[in-house]
Amino acid sequence: MNRKGQVATVKAVVFAAALAPFTALAIAAFTNGLGANPVETITHTTGEWTLRLLLATLAITPLRHLTGWVWLARLRRMVGLFAFFYLMLHFTTYAVLDASLDLAYVVEDVADRLYITAGFAAFVMLVPLAATSTNAMVRRLGPLRWRRLHRLVYAAGVCGVLHYLWLVKADLREPLVYAGILAVLLAARLPIVVKTLQARRSKGAGKATAAVAP
Ligand code: HEM
Repeated sequence: MNRKGQVATVKAVVFAAALAPFTALAIAAFTNGLGANPVETITHTTGEWTLRLLLATLAITPLRHLTGWVWLARLRRMVGLFAFFYLMLHFTTYAVLDASLDLAYVVEDVADRLYITAGFAAFVMLVPLAATSTNAMVRRLGPLRWRRLHRLVYAAGVCGVLHYLWLVKADLREPLVYAGILAVLLAARLPIVVKTLQARRSKGAGKATAAVAP
């Protein structure tokens, strides 16, 4: 298989993996498998997958710097859009089943409950990113402006983690693990870290070349 075929296969596998939690949730919904509190199950599953996929999106660039696998960048848009897909399900569950589509209730909730404020802020930041994710929008905005806009994903990640930290009442371990992963992924973008990773990779590549050189 050539490189193009390999990337297409990886993309198909990642697509199926990212869709699997939704498929499992849909099957559970149609087979009475959502447990005693279906709203809680849906909110929990969609919230967790939003955060996991948001962090996976943020992991792609550092992983590319670490490995030199340029093709990894081609997964970023898909994984990011899946994060947004789960966020839409998460928000819709809240808006329809918690807030009964009552806009005044949502506005009051966003103003009153800090964890809802943080979640909503993340949502508001991710909407323009999803809307400008196409190649046509990159061309329209210009790469520089597009990249600047898409830096909002870092703030959205921070708000997503704060949302989780603030809503948990007792056991903070899980949100703290997400916070730790986010901190590492943000630190991996510091110029000094990027330079170190790239230098390490070139050194490794140099050694490999020397090993095969006559
Ligand atoms: C990037 C944005 C967001 C992320 C990453 C996220 C993630 C999460 C996570 C991980 C949970 C915990 C699930 C659990 O363990 O039970 C959760 C719960 C929840 N989220 Fe979000 N969320 C986001 C945005 C929102 C928004 C926009 C709203 C509504 C305006 C919202 C409303 C809720 C509610 C009501 C809960 C359940 C709280 C409870 O158990 O009392 N989230 N979210």
